[in-house]
Amino acid sequence: TGRCVVAVDGPSGSGKSTVSRRLAASIGARYLDTGAMYRAITWAVLRSGVDLTDTASVAKVAGEVNLRIGTHPQGYAVTIDGVGVDADIRGAEVTGAVSAVAAIPAVRELLVARQREMIANVGRMVVEGRDIGSVVAPDADLKVFLTASEAARAARRSAEDAADVAATAADLARRDRLDSTRKVNPLAQAPDAVVLDTTELGIDEVVARLRDLLTERG
Ligand code: C5P
Repeated sequence: TGRCVVAVDGPSGSGKSTVSRRLAASIGARYLDTGAMYRAITWAVLRSGVDLTDTASVAKVAGEVNLRIGTHPQGYAVTIDGVGVDADIRGAEVTGAVSAVAAIPAVRELLVARQREMIANVGRMVVEGRDIGSVVAPDADLKVFLTASEAARAARRSAEDAADVAATAADLARRDRLDSTRKVNPLAQAPDAVVLDTTELGIDEVVARLRDLLTERG
């Protein structure tokens, strides 16, 4: 069980979280949900009351709070200044604001540094996000880019959140547009990433494919 870093990127609803957690558990690795880190910082910013368009103030809040995130693939906890925020960061308020906060260069700089530190300390980790293979861990042992049709992504997300499919589809499209067009570290497919379309694939099949790829690469 030596060093092994797997980078999993892709748009919302592509199956990243489920696949990444299952893969980590099956290879005895830790798991890092970088989206949860951006969500937790967004929760702190909303709580602080600063204007989201005041990027300097948003960055200041991001730098001052104490964000902690666990890395166990089954059940990890996220806290801000000791307060558990796992449920709140999945709410509509945070989901509506996170892409704007994640587009601020100083916020990304801070979180990318934290992510690299955690990866270096753990050594064996599945890391999921939007810029992992391209920016956070360009030397990852395996880079995966998960995609799925817009309809499949909206259907999965609305099932998870027990939400309306049309509203979910609109929200996913809005976030994907913001995440793909921001100036700093946009959602990007690393040139050496393995692209997997999960529209017609079950989770077990995707996880099995990734395990095979890891075995092939020794
Ligand atoms: O993956 P999840 O949907 O929880 O991510 C929430 C948001 O966090 C994304 O829409 C994106 O704006 C931001 N994010 C990011 N870079 C990452 C992970 C997430 O910008 N590596």
